Amino acid sequence: ISVQQGLLLAKPLPYDDEQKGLSTQITIHLSHVVAENTPKGQAANKFAELVEEKTNGMVKVHVYSNASLFNDENEFRALQKGDVEMIIPTFSKMTTYVPNWQVLDLPYLFHTEEEVHEVLTGTIGKQLLDELGPLHLHVKGLGFWYNGFKHVTSADQPIHTFEDLQGLRVRTMPSKVLEKQFEAVKATPIPVSFSELFTDLETHTIDAQENTASNIYSKGFYKVQQHMTITEHGILGYAVLINENFWDSLPEKIQKQMLTAMKETTEWQFEQATLMNEKDMQKLMQQDHFTVYTMSDQERQRFKQQLTPVYDFYRSHIQTNDILTEIEKVV
Ligand code: LMR
Repeated sequence: ISVQQGLLLAKPLPYDDEQKGLSTQITIHLSHVVAENTPKGQAANKFAELVEEKTNGMVKVHVYSNASLFNDENEFRALQKGDVEMIIPTFSKMTTYVPNWQVLDLPYLFHTEEEVHEVLTGTIGKQLLDELGPLHLHVKGLGFWYNGFKHVTSADQPIHTFEDLQGLRVRTMPSKVLEKQFEAVKATPIPVSFSELFTDLETHTIDAQENTASNIYSKGFYKVQQHMTITEHGILGYAVLINENFWDSLPEKIQKQMLTAMKETTEWQFEQATLMNEKDMQKLMQQDHFTVYTMSDQERQRFKQQLTPVYDFYRSHIQTNDILTEIEKVV
């Protein structure tokens, strides 16, 4: 179904007392790039369900997964232009527009999921979302969602120590902090769209990549990579974004109902994300021709130490506020 078809399908509803005279059904097209059976895919579906329920069917959210509508390269422009009403990019992919969000990409900043939850859903998360306002990007942030801690997968060479990454072509999301992270271990960072990644790994255009267990499993990266190392060196999370003109056009009551749906989905999805990543990690461990290692504590310490220049880079080139200090009070 195309957006245009979707719009044509938006049918007028009979008068509904509850909605005080609002008689036309509102359709939201929500596009994302991952599989449905992932923390983001499930959260998008849950949000759609809750929005429909809370608005008594007045708002319908059509979810398009697997980059079937827009991919990493074009989804943000599509959102700005109003070709799609909602997208849920990783905050890393948004850093071209909101450089300060790179703070969340800093390696080994978070130690537990509780810390991530507190930062993304508390006052710091709100402060981060407020950064969108003065940038006049014509999008509004409804909140942050979470996927999990990232690990490294590789083709021929297992990654036992950070030195094993040296010389490898490693796929990154477009974030300067993530690029610096791989440069700090003498690897070559190469930004690649998520929807292209499988093919690039399969053809050995890319040697290694970082991701969560749920993304690695659901996209079948284990079929085209041979090794995975549990490093937990960074986090993967999302900004839930909506076109600002569209948002402003919604009746206040609908906005409130959507914000309630968002809040409930966010709490639900933090728990689900943890469960899904645990489950998918187990499945990855059972794959033939795919080996999962755990980086030892000692090697993690060395890896972390080696990545110190990334913090220096963030402080000298990116940082324009005290958000890192605020986060460091929590972690
Ligand atoms: C990636 O691009 O590696 C992932 O972050 C995709 C996603 O949205 O989880």
